Amino acid sequence: MATRIAVLVSGGGTNLQALIDAQGRGELGGGVLAAVISSKPGVYALERAAQAGIPTYVIPRRDYPSSQAMTQALVSQLKALDIQLVVLAGFMVILTQEMVQAFPHAILNVHPSLIPSFCGAGYYGLRVHQQALAYGVKLTGATVHFVSEECDGGPIVLQQAVPVEAGDSPETLQRRVMEQAEWRILPQAVALFCQNRLRVEGRTVHILPRQ
Ligand code: GAR
Repeated sequence: MATRIAVLVSGGGTNLQALIDAQGRGELGGGVLAAVISSKPGVYALERAAQAGIPTYVIPRRDYPSSQAMTQALVSQLKALDIQLVVLAGFMVILTQEMVQAFPHAILNVHPSLIPSFCGAGYYGLRVHQQALAYGVKLTGATVHFVSEECDGGPIVLQQAVPVEAGDSPETLQRRVMEQAEWRILPQAVALFCQNRLRVEGRTVHILPRQ
């Protein structure tokens, strides 16, 4: 049975597009993109999903009195859709523990730095690249990790380093990290999950050989 995947988004959805393109090439390890859920109405990611024929749902944070209530609504929707893998792809809401408890080691997040650098609460989107430039690092990159109850703290599945170049702005660095890292390792990690090739042991994710 194909792994049913939901992608959670809040913005432009270029990482969602990378997943759609990988599915089109038959490179999602047999997984199927079954739903796209946005925390914001009107975002371009919803357009990308509609163009690809993927059902879309909007669960706005402001419709709920607390993060916990929003998380519970999200979990109910994911369970109703019979989802087995949740992918956070530019999803800008921090979910509460009910989410991790409902999907243990079945939530992947892509983060635009080499964790544990430039991660945790307050590090999201362009801010991550602003901080990397301000610190003067010569290498940055992206990380795909399992989501745990600690923000950006779950076991690491894949990482890809990307050089910082002289004269980079947060925008040019963000673009390079997306092109050279995020859009590659996110579909790879999803495919590994769908092929049942990821085993978590403490903080370490073992990648099993292809059967
Ligand atoms: C991506 O760079 C993603 O890694 C980052 O937001 C961007 C979303 O772009 N996510 C975070 O910072 C989460 N902490 P997209 O909507 O075009 O995929």
